[in-house]
Amino acid sequence: MATGTPRPIAPAKGKLGVLCVGLGAVATTFIAGVELIRRGKAKPIGSLTQMGTIRLGKRTEGRAPYIKEFVPLADLNDLVFGAWDPLPDTAYQSCLHCGVLDKHEHVEPIKEFLQAIAPMPAAFDQNYVKRLEGKNVKQGRTKKELAEALRKDIRDFKAKHGCDRLVMVWCASTEIFIAPGAAHQTLAAFEKAMETNDPSIAPSMLYAYAAIMEGVPFANGAPNLCCDIPAIEQLAKDKGVAIGGKDFKTGQTMIKTVLSPMFKARMLGVAGWYSTNILGNRDGEVLDDPESFKTKEESKLGVLEDILQPKLYPELYGNLFHKVRINYYPPRGDNKEGWDNIDIFGWCGYPMQIKVDFLCRDSILAAPLVLDLALFFDLAQRAKLSGIQEWLSFYFKSPQVAPGLYPEHDLFIQQTKLKNTLRWLMGEGAITHLGVEYYEYGEK
Ligand SMILES: NC(=O)c1ccc[n+]([C@@H]2O[C@H](COP(=O)([O-])OP(=O)(O)OC[C@H]3O[C@@H](n4cnc5c(N)ncnc54)[C@H](O)[C@@H]3O)[C@@H](O)[C@H]2O)c1
Repeated sequence: MATGTPRPIAPAKGKLGVLCVGLGAVATTFIAGVELIRRGKAKPIGSLTQMGTIRLGKRTEGRAPYIKEFVPLADLNDLVFGAWDPLPDTAYQSCLHCGVLDKHEHVEPIKEFLQAIAPMPAAFDQNYVKRLEGKNVKQGRTKKELAEALRKDIRDFKAKHGCDRLVMVWCASTEIFIAPGAAHQTLAAFEKAMETNDPSIAPSMLYAYAAIMEGVPFANGAPNLCCDIPAIEQLAKDKGVAIGGKDFKTGQTMIKTVLSPMFKARMLGVAGWYSTNILGNRDGEVLDDPESFKTKEESKLGVLEDILQPKLYPELYGNLFHKVRINYYPPRGDNKEGWDNIDIFGWCGYPMQIKVDFLCRDSILAAPLVLDLALFFDLAQRAKLSGIQEWLSFYFKSPQVAPGLYPEHDLFIQQTKLKNTLRWLMGEGAITHLGVEYYEYGEK
């Protein structure tokens, strides 16, 4: 039984265009995967929107519908895909190049579908991604002109494919580290900086700006500053557009945000956490550049501090030594190996160690996140939730939050927040897990 007033949500009618910035390993694994699922050739494993259920009401009520049946999400058959990339490869060529999906089982059977997805010329500048060179690039006198060209691409795509709505997900390379500065503080300063080609305006910001100006929700899957600046946040609120980021939470950081709350819950100390990765795909090559790595490092390092709260627990976490490395190692391709050595201590200070060796597949973990983000951002937009979507922190390593808040990194708190937001949208009561009503001491 619903307990509140549902929020009005426009129906998910017609086609939803999913615009990926970047048509590399993550984007093509996502796009090909959706098509394979639509053809009944694969299962949407890893996707909460497709496989997850949501409990409603008391445990005695036995109500647990699928999320996709509880909230009005776009149907997979209504998705159409577009992308920008400085490399001219179609989704088919890129899939083969990236080598994530099996050529014979998963790529060749959908060759025609993938060949039809050719990237639009990118707003790209090698100064921001040093290890890439691309020919499929827009020309413009100013960054503002490039942003206007992206806006035109968005409108043209929508018209050409007869889309009812669009959503944009940054699946492109990690840019060099940029500290927030004066040009990022207000819309006026930001627009002026685009006109004067200010170096603090990165290409990723142009995509975010273009999306918001066109009323298209924007999710940032990389650690770039991108839409995490006051100018863009204000623009999103003013235009009533949903935004969020940053950096898909997939491999090592996902493990970190599961293990570290466990240490804190049991009041176990952590003396050191050494994390290293070997990765051989193009992302690994880009991150081999120290300036791109710095952007990633910041995103990966913040997590422990926010979860373990060393200021509140100085004896347990005050001297924690945290190190993160990413090493480019071509033989592994997309199959990343993430090692963690964790030095913990317990009762009377006795030391213990935990070793984690996660032999993962980067894009296999990231693809379902792209799908969920596309569908949930579209839902947020139809429900008129504008600005930062903190309830989607579940998907990000470095979640964007309202000014003055610290981000919530604990995966299971993030999951509770996400599901309670869905309940709230549909007029169902939040689940607090209090449960005293089942016992005599809870009876009135
Ligand atoms: N796979 C994961 O588990 C994971 C997790 C978190 C974040 N990420 C991030 O997701 C992003 C994509 O990862 P990937 O493995 O697909 O990398 P990739 O190198 O295979 O693909 C990125 C693509 O972006 C393109 N690109 C670069 N700059 C662009 C621009 N300005 N406009 C349009 N396209 C541009 C590149 O040419 C490339 O084809 C990276 O930033 C990565 O750090 C991935």
